Amino acid sequence: MKLGLIGYPIKYSLSPWIHEQFLQASGIEGEYELFEIKPDTSLKKVIKDMKKSGVKGVNVTVPYKQQIIPYLDGLDPVASSIGAVNTIMVANGKMIGYNTDGVGYIKGLNDMYPDFLSRQTKCLIIGAGGAARSIYVTLSKYGIKHMDIVNRTQESAEDIALLGEKHTATNVLSWREAENKAGYYDILIQTTSIGMKPKINEMIMSLDNVKEGSVVSDIIYQPIHTTFLEHAKRNNALILPGHVMLLYQAKEAFEIWTNQKRNVTHLIEPLQHILEGR
Ligand code: ATR
Repeated sequence: MKLGLIGYPIKYSLSPWIHEQFLQASGIEGEYELFEIKPDTSLKKVIKDMKKSGVKGVNVTVPYKQQIIPYLDGLDPVASSIGAVNTIMVANGKMIGYNTDGVGYIKGLNDMYPDFLSRQTKCLIIGAGGAARSIYVTLSKYGIKHMDIVNRTQESAEDIALLGEKHTATNVLSWREAENKAGYYDILIQTTSIGMKPKINEMIMSLDNVKEGSVVSDIIYQPIHTTFLEHAKRNNALILPGHVMLLYQAKEAFEIWTNQKRNVTHLIEPLQHILEGR
């Protein structure tokens, strides 16, 4: 089975390692190829060539998650509400787009903290980019009733809030409001690039007021233990590091392509070691 990833730059992507583990465990002969597409390339041609190559499943990453949509033959409803695609399934010559980032987040959370998430869970999303959008839409569809957003550009946060289901009440907060109110939330989800290597000492907001036993997550996985998560730990919060979501979004994609459910819990530690060795 031919699988792959399109994006730029993707030389150091961990997706080949993850999907090779899945292929092996499933006993499926296959390969996961990197399609590194320079930003000025015609996506129309890339898609045409991909269809010809017999590829069955493709992951999509930065900067093509939105740009690729017009070239696809259809979209799953979740990807359609999010407005971004991270997974493509090729069937009968048609390319259908999916987005597994949000569901990957939820499944990773359920793996590390089973039964923590309920419709009453109060969530704060920090950031309003593509990842925030996926997580917000998926959590809202899950039934979450309270989910606030804080972002440098408030209009982007307001745009995301419009994507919520009726049952989800959302306030867009200022940094000061979010910091003061941090203790109100059961889950805080950091989705910006602040704190990513090499600027590992940066932190998007203070967690001094965070509630003991709440879950603080960061979608950054380089480094795994961001300053934000270290700060959360010092304030007795539970932490959910970014490589867990990385694994689970891949698991969901693999399931779409192969209809096979893969267990990933045992891969969390090896993936952490690979990342720490970089
Ligand atoms: P992704 O698709 O990976 O989520 P993105 O769409 O580029 O990435 O989103 C980046 C997020 O990081 C946004 O919330 C962005 O805030 P703005 O919407 O105000 O741009 C946030 N971000 C990036 N650099 C930032 C900075 N220096 N300070 C605060 N927020 C920042």
